[in-house]
Amino acid sequence: MILVTGGAGYIGSHCALTLLEKGHDIVVFDSLELGHQETINTLKNINSKGKFIDFIKGNLQNYEDINNVFSKHKIDAVVHFAAFSQVGESVKNPQKYYFNNVYGSLNLFRAMLEHDVKKIVFSSTAATYGEPEYTPIDEKHPQNPINPYGSSKLMIERILDDYDKAYGLKSVRLRYFNVAGADSKSRIGEWHEPETHLIPNILKSTFSGGKTFQMFGDDYDTIDGTCVRDYINVENLINAHILALEYLNNGGKTNFFNLGTTDGNSVKQVFTACEEVTQQKIPVELKGRREGDPATLVADNKKAIETLKWIPDKSLKDSVNSAYEWEKVLQDKYY
Ligand code: UFG
Repeated sequence: MILVTGGAGYIGSHCALTLLEKGHDIVVFDSLELGHQETINTLKNINSKGKFIDFIKGNLQNYEDINNVFSKHKIDAVVHFAAFSQVGESVKNPQKYYFNNVYGSLNLFRAMLEHDVKKIVFSSTAATYGEPEYTPIDEKHPQNPINPYGSSKLMIERILDDYDKAYGLKSVRLRYFNVAGADSKSRIGEWHEPETHLIPNILKSTFSGGKTFQMFGDDYDTIDGTCVRDYINVENLINAHILALEYLNNGGKTNFFNLGTTDGNSVKQVFTACEEVTQQKIPVELKGRREGDPATLVADNKKAIETLKWIPDKSLKDSVNSAYEWEKVLQDKYY
């Protein structure tokens, strides 16, 4: 049985779905502060193979909540997504981030050790690298986060290193670049309230009642003046988690990998891709720079490809397509 923390959220729910489809029994643990009960309902309905899925609502900040999960189920490995992830909010309210992300993770690891569970795949982030010193960013790039969100994730990475040395807890830390797209059958997808991410914000502005898309800054030192990011498809990203679990099951040592495509796309290029996919002229308003946005963030992904045999084969267009199909479902069914 695999425990998925944060399994009602955007990335965690895609992992839960893939694990179920691959025939695993899973337990999803989520506080539903940001995740959605509707997503859990969808996961339970999808579960046609008769695989076991249990949902336990709880908060990692309450040790008993998470310890009870391990008492109830025989867990073999953990995939740990549960976290807050908004950079701007983390600057304004670092306490919220350190308590939820770091203290919450400490409780999770304590319960794992208590129940002798020694394998974990952890959602880390490109934000642990901070302002890039060179590009593309490989795993040897120094980790100097510039906001509490990135710091909280780096602290957890360091804790995992120490826990391996002291307790033999094996981890794979996956450092995500910009995750994009949705389930290709549109059953689940990105659903944040409020939404801050680029692709859903552009797409939302094509629906009635949607706000005009705001483009943050066109005076960066990039090909067209807008920020360049590495958009990695969520289904490709989740496959890396499945491979990471297999790697740990095969006795792999504690390790860490970037998950990106090596392809940089500017905000303007993403906007054009959205216009092409939706076949609409999308209204746009140019605003000033958003605080804390580095000009370029692009991953060197060789390590994951070579070690995990990972295949990131989906394009930006694939991600925009699935995000658009999901956004239609979201607007139609849930709004
Ligand atoms: N952008 C806009 N308008 C919007 C939203 C975003 O112009 O409405 C721009 C941003 O300014 C940025 C780019 O689009 O230049 C991408 O922004 P996102 O908010 O989609 O993604 P970020 O690169 O800021 O953040 C992502 C993750 C974070 C993680 C970070 C790592 O969402 O969790 O990458 O650097 F910390």
